[in-house]
Amino acid sequence: MVENIQRVAQEIEAAQLTSAAELEQFRIAYIGRKGAIAALFDDLKSVAPEQRRQVGQELNQLKNRAQTRFDEAQEQLANANTGSEAENAFDFTLPPIPNTLGTRHPLSLVRAEIVRIFERIGFNVADGPEIEDDWHNFTALNFPENHPAREMQDTFFLSEDRDKLLRTHTSNVQVRLMENNQPPLRSIMPGRVYRNEAISARAHMVFQQVEGLYVNKGVSFKDLKETLYYFAKEMFGQDTKIRFRPSFFPFTEPSAEIDISCLICKGEGCNICKQSGWVEIGGAGMVDPNVLSNCGIDPEVYSGFAFGMGIERITMLRYQIRDLRLFTENDVRFLRQFKGVI
Ligand code: PHE
Repeated sequence: MVENIQRVAQEIEAAQLTSAAELEQFRIAYIGRKGAIAALFDDLKSVAPEQRRQVGQELNQLKNRAQTRFDEAQEQLANANTGSEAENAFDFTLPPIPNTLGTRHPLSLVRAEIVRIFERIGFNVADGPEIEDDWHNFTALNFPENHPAREMQDTFFLSEDRDKLLRTHTSNVQVRLMENNQPPLRSIMPGRVYRNEAISARAHMVFQQVEGLYVNKGVSFKDLKETLYYFAKEMFGQDTKIRFRPSFFPFTEPSAEIDISCLICKGEGCNICKQSGWVEIGGAGMVDPNVLSNCGIDPEVYSGFAFGMGIERITMLRYQIRDLRLFTENDVRFLRQFKGVI
């Protein structure tokens, strides 16, 4: 018996424990319920009663020693993260893990880029509700009651009295901004807008605009032109041309429509630019003094400019997309083309 204990003790000291497999073998051979030490405990019965206590103690020490060796070796193995070479080897025959990351939607990409461009010249981002009341979408913006300009906007009304509606433009956020803050104000306001229009390659009933507003002392039309010229060149390339056509909006005076040279056909004429070589990207103008005073800002002291642009249109020009319906069809063959664009 004593010899057996010594032999097992030597084996335990000599055992090589450098891999997970060796460790497991050791556990089964010595520590486990069917291992050598358990067998020695069984043999304790055959030991003469007067020696049993002594042998029992030795066995307990042996058991503790085996456990300690096991624990230490296990910890070392975990720290070194070694293992046999075969266990560590990279299996080159495994199929690759496919990259299933999605892509950002092109409209989100372009919206983020617009924000970046304007942030560089001191604009911050403001937000407002898509369900709006008459005051913020129309009246405060100088749309007279029953004026045909209201009809121009193909409004989706949400209540019989026409006081609840889906906003037809992001200009409602201008109003909210001016009502709640005093100048200087310099913000852009991207968001969804709604109009009751037939869906085609060029128009949709839900689309996105980005509004811009700058109100301060001494803001001029020149500031407006310079700002939009800077934007067009940053967004579409340094050789982009821009032109302003006289126009009308109730909330700006004077008002202009902003065109840039068509990047799809390079001015030769295509279905996006209606064969004209120019594409409208939005409207702009100097904030009408009535709008300033409707919002609690003194038009004798302050002036401002505002602009509103269609994000779909800008995206189509930027990525040469010919049909606006692609944005909402969720065709992965289209969406995947924007992989990796940040
Ligand atoms: N709100 C106008 C539209 O949707 C665009 C615009 C915004 C024009 C700001 C001038 C100033 O058509």
